[in-house]
Amino acid sequence: MTSQPIGFLDSGVGGLTVIKEALKQLPNESIVFLGDQARLPYGPRPTEEVAHFVQQIAGFLLDQHIKALVLACNTATAAALPILQAKLSIPVVGVIDSGSQTAVKVSTGQHIGVIATEGTIKSHAYQSAISHLAPNASIEGLACPDFVTAVEADKYHDPQTNQLVADQLQYFKAHPVDTLILGCTHFPLLIDSIRSAMGADVTLVDSGMETVGVVKQLLADEGLLNTSSQSERPKFYTTGDVNSFSAIAKDWLQLSELNVSHVPVEQLEEY
Ligand code: DGL
Ligand code: CA
Repeated sequence: MTSQPIGFLDSGVGGLTVIKEALKQLPNESIVFLGDQARLPYGPRPTEEVAHFVQQIAGFLLDQHIKALVLACNTATAAALPILQAKLSIPVVGVIDSGSQTAVKVSTGQHIGVIATEGTIKSHAYQSAISHLAPNASIEGLACPDFVTAVEADKYHDPQTNQLVADQLQYFKAHPVDTLILGCTHFPLLIDSIRSAMGADVTLVDSGMETVGVVKQLLADEGLLNTSSQSERPKFYTTGDVNSFSAIAKDWLQLSELNVSHVPVEQLEEY
């Protein structure tokens, strides 16, 4: 039924940057999200391990009767999108293709940068998605794992995080780009620091945000948009600590009340 929820997953609060956009663009849809904070970070993990975790979470979300699944995690997308698309009967959408398409569209000089986790950079998923669309584009990838740690530690407002971002993005002084893809869903929480580090001339692309437009179009094409008037409040799950998850989620989503529950990783193991 079209009133079924859309499922979103990430390794942590990064996926909330996609949820924030989904709440804006799809106000009539019910949303269920799981952040696998007990096993974060995914970036340094082997691809097979990330794929295993993502399939477990997909099983949990399918039991919440989701009508579509969004991998609101670049590392998960790189590791498991094809597997899940083959395995599941519902639509499964990742965040890498839409970010790549937008970057190629907006880039003025085809010098495109990507910041992401080690897993996403090592996978070359962005390099292949972009060069498929723009064979002559030059692509500079930079792994910024410390950015994930800073966000999950609720330090995305801190001055020293601003300095960390400035220091790490110095890399692009020597490798100039005209467009930078935020290829990790955690990174939009650092957008102000990234903007000041990159300067006003570089276009920033938020892959997660771009993906919501693709999800909306896909649901419309498949006749899956919720036509009934009622939609549930968003439901959040974390395999980590509910309080620390809620603190960041309330701040980022600007919601005073949140429906957050803990899911033990063991429970996911059963699926
Ligand atoms: N937020 C995830 C991404 O978009 C991964 C962060 C992590 O667990 O390393 O890649
Ligand atoms: Ca399928």
